[in-house]
Amino acid sequence: MEYTLLLIEKNNGVAQLTINSPQTLNALNSAVLGELECALYELDRDNDVKVVILTGAGEKAFVAGADIKEMAAMSAFEGQQFALKGQRVILMMEKMNKPVIAAVNGYALGGGLELALGCDFIYASQKARFGFPEVTLGIIPGFGGTQNLSRRIGVARANELIFTGKMIDAAKASEWGIVNEVFAPEELLPKAQETARSIARLGTLAIASAKNAIANGLNMGKEDGFRYEASLFGVLFATEDQKEGMGAFVEKRKAEFKGK
Ligand code: CAA
Repeated sequence: MEYTLLLIEKNNGVAQLTINSPQTLNALNSAVLGELECALYELDRDNDVKVVILTGAGEKAFVAGADIKEMAAMSAFEGQQFALKGQRVILMMEKMNKPVIAAVNGYALGGGLELALGCDFIYASQKARFGFPEVTLGIIPGFGGTQNLSRRIGVARANELIFTGKMIDAAKASEWGIVNEVFAPEELLPKAQETARSIARLGTLAIASAKNAIANGLNMGKEDGFRYEASLFGVLFATEDQKEGMGAFVEKRKAEFKGK
């Protein structure tokens, strides 16, 4: 599909997906959400892509939230449908077989923070700012933020961020466990690419199973999660990648994974 609001660059098994409407700080309107849903669907099915990096165009923002100008005139029903549309994108990233890394280059507010939280982990620039300003607009986070933030950083810190609508900087976001690592602005994408390429060289079936075990395990009781992990662990012994990975270790050579 042709995209007008997204840029997609593919290299060495890594797809860099950039939300490209910097004039509105990459705000998420229905059109961008629709393109994101299609692009993620296509990238998940593209055998040349092993890892996705999600970022925003321009110097200022990753994504400054859902599009307030579009939301301003919505009815209650339209608001609910808009939230469900955004949530489909977040859930799609969580269910994809491939890791999605957020490279947060500037503001990640409201729906922008929700998009980042839907990724498997977040790298941030020192210039990044995080927050949920929804209550200052008379609404609450609607793209999964109330659920994903509390699961990621605990209820008390999620409550503080969501009830106050305040912004925190990258250092605080890192201290709170929202962000894995903070980089100088010019290092953010090279570092995200480096990590993505190192994951892309590994066995895609093992990575997909690990993502699946962690994500689904969070929705299970611990013993069910353990059983689920053991079944995925067992299935991997039927793959060529397991034979190759362990064979290469025994033969003291570098493994060449095929994703089979
Ligand atoms: N929606 C629509 N347009 C937005 C936007 C948004 N979320 N954020 C920024 N823009 C637009 C501005 O309106 C402006 O366009 P115009 O020049 O045409 O007016 C342009 O982007 C540049 O923004 P600013 O001039 O405001 O830039 P700034 O540097 O002065 O401020 C900012 C930056 C602090 C991020 C400020 O733009 C801002 O507060 N944006 C809104 C942030 C917000 O409230 N996000 C949450 C949205 S609600 C939500 O996301 C709900 C949900 O959970 C699904």
